Amino acid sequence: MGQAVKAEALERFGIALLEAAGTPPAYAREVAANLVFGNLRGVDSHGIRLLLYYLEHIRHGLILPAAGGEPLTEFGAICVYDAAFGLGAATSAECCAIANRLASTHGVGVVTARRANHFGAAAYWARKMADAGHIGIAFCNASTIVAPWQSKEAKYGTNPICMAVPGPYEDSFLLDMATTTVAANRIFKAFQNHEPEIPIGWAMDRDGRPTTDTKAAYEGLVAPLGGYKGTGLALMVEILTSVLAGGAMGSEIGGIRYTAKPLSVSHFFLAIDVRRFMPADEFEARMRRLLHEIRTATPAAGYDEVLVAGDPEIRMERERRERGIPFSDTDLQALREAAEALGIEPLQLENA
Ligand SMILES: NC(=O)c1ccc[n+]([C@@H]2O[C@H](COP(=O)([O-])OP(=O)(O)OC[C@H]3O[C@@H](n4cnc5c(N)ncnc54)[C@H](O)[C@@H]3O)[C@@H](O)[C@H]2O)c1
Repeated sequence: MGQAVKAEALERFGIALLEAAGTPPAYAREVAANLVFGNLRGVDSHGIRLLLYYLEHIRHGLILPAAGGEPLTEFGAICVYDAAFGLGAATSAECCAIANRLASTHGVGVVTARRANHFGAAAYWARKMADAGHIGIAFCNASTIVAPWQSKEAKYGTNPICMAVPGPYEDSFLLDMATTTVAANRIFKAFQNHEPEIPIGWAMDRDGRPTTDTKAAYEGLVAPLGGYKGTGLALMVEILTSVLAGGAMGSEIGGIRYTAKPLSVSHFFLAIDVRRFMPADEFEARMRRLLHEIRTATPAAGYDEVLVAGDPEIRMERERRERGIPFSDTDLQALREAAEALGIEPLQLENA
């Protein structure tokens, strides 16, 4: 069954939950906006449901909701930031602001953050840099649930790669992808929603064999994107995040679904000022030309159009802004329980 929820109502609800858990209002707004952005774009694995894990980590003292972190060093275009176990979106907002400031001064700005928490969909951060007129690149490492190619032992995370470009949000290139076939949350969500099967290529069982059984996948490993190439890309992200930031690596990293230790991931933000290469309107015109060339390529058999990265999510966002964001009964029940536990008003539902 399920029902739909308007983005504004969802954001208000997220803010109320976070504030009730001791989060300062400005941080609560950033975290809620980041999660609702995920839901609006159809990336429900990185939507408001993550808040339940954040709240659990706050309860266990693993996320410090009032901590904002601080720069450890700033030299030229480079800043190393200590996120001090604050909420991932609160410290990432600060890191993006620094990357944008450095790019405006030096042409590029690079910020790495250590001792950080989950920052939701990377696209939200790349877009924050694009909105300031910069090419925005955002990476993070993640809990160790992926086995390197030719192994059955988890050694690294789904380490996403993301890039946004300046120009209209509604019609732009916005690549945001895990370096695994799918983000791990897609598998967790299938498990929570009692879906018996997932597509082939998403995951491996505990012995490293490809599986479509959701339970075996949940207990097993997320498959690297495109075999050894995915492992190589993930390690590139790992180097630019945890190694460069001086952060936790490999088994030192926690997980948002368990509370034995802090998540302690690392983030990487790169802002590139296109105006140091050419006037902004020339860049945008060149982007329009490139995207037009790609979108007008002749569709292959079985398809009637060609898309560029970002197109599917923008379409979804238009639809969900109008009709609301659909939620399963299971998710609504979990959100209802969280509201009760923190003594706040329940989520306001629309008629789906
Ligand atoms: N914070 C974390 O720890 C973490 C870790 C991993 C992933 N994530 C997030 O998970 C989310 C989902 O990742 P994913 O890999 O499952 O995404 P996905 O596979 O749904 O999409 C990946 C990219 O492919 C593009 N795309 C989709 N269909 C297309 C088509 N037909 N033609 C052209 N481009 C197309 C999308 O626009 C997107 O940019 C991302 O937002 C990512 O940031 C976060």
